[in-house]
Amino acid sequence: MKQSFGRDRQGRQASLYTLENNSVIMKTTDHGATLVSLTDKKTGIDVVHGFSSCEEYENQDFYIGATIGRTANRIEKGIFHLNGKEYHIPVNNNGNANHGGINGFNRRMFTAEEGTDYTAFVYESPDGEEGYPGRMTLIVTYRLLSEGIAIHYHASSDADTLFAPTCHSYFNLDESEDAMNHRIRIHSDRYGLSDANGLTLDEIVPVEGTPFDFRSFKPAGQDINKPDEQLKYGAGYDHFYPVEGSSIRLMAEAEGKKLHLSMYSDLPGMHFYTSNWLDGIKGKKGHSYKRRSAVCFEAEFMPNAVNYPERQQPVLYKGRPADYEIQYLIGLK
Ligand code: BGC
Repeated sequence: MKQSFGRDRQGRQASLYTLENNSVIMKTTDHGATLVSLTDKKTGIDVVHGFSSCEEYENQDFYIGATIGRTANRIEKGIFHLNGKEYHIPVNNNGNANHGGINGFNRRMFTAEEGTDYTAFVYESPDGEEGYPGRMTLIVTYRLLSEGIAIHYHASSDADTLFAPTCHSYFNLDESEDAMNHRIRIHSDRYGLSDANGLTLDEIVPVEGTPFDFRSFKPAGQDINKPDEQLKYGAGYDHFYPVEGSSIRLMAEAEGKKLHLSMYSDLPGMHFYTSNWLDGIKGKKGHSYKRRSAVCFEAEFMPNAVNYPERQQPVLYKGRPADYEIQYLIGLK
């Protein structure tokens, strides 16, 4: 089902697409190929932050529910080299380029195609957009699963470029104002250190004995105020966890009062972010989205990997399309 969702800054009409099955109701918009709501039908709980119009999405910089690209998270100083050439992405975060530049995919209008159990969004990113080489075509497909949703990214380009997508949904499994009592489990025994600007360094260290150890379920907020330089740099958790393996696999879980969420992906790892910069902005259904009101499980390539040659490279080669998937499964605890 397609409904009007207001207009973007350029006056273009946005739409809201609704799909449902026995377990969930999913709403997405073509503005930023964004997940607007994901409601569990057994409890009626909408587990993601979101807004009720395109205008409200345009008036915030938190990337709530958006498709992120071409590169999720930071590129140091916005500079990278590919095939011997230097490229510059506009910097927008403490001197680094975050989430695709100033006008990333989150601000783009996609073209939608509705199927019986999916909504697909297509975007043609022109050569040189936000400094990236190559004309790239991206298809983001949101598909209903028997207990949740899958988001599939299919990208191709007419020249070598970077592609490292993620879904920037903010989850609160209780529709409450504080997600720090959610119990979290992350399927990784290592995490990436950041510098004081939130840039992931090329240093992956064991979680053992640190507040970053989520190998067994523990409340998100249990250790968040511990004296720890890394927590200080992120103003909370804002860190990359590599996850062993390469096929679709369980990366992270969260438990609220009634619901359980699990995130699967075939991307190299995930960013755990405790919504440290939300400022009380008004969202849908009268909610206000305060600091720490949500947790984000952003499946992704290692941030700044393009500048760390030993890490898996987020390169999309000419003539070799790339496919990635993120699944969010929801069920009763
Ligand atoms: C980043 C945070 C940033 C947030 C919203 C996360 O992926 O790591 O530093 O504040 O996205 O932009």
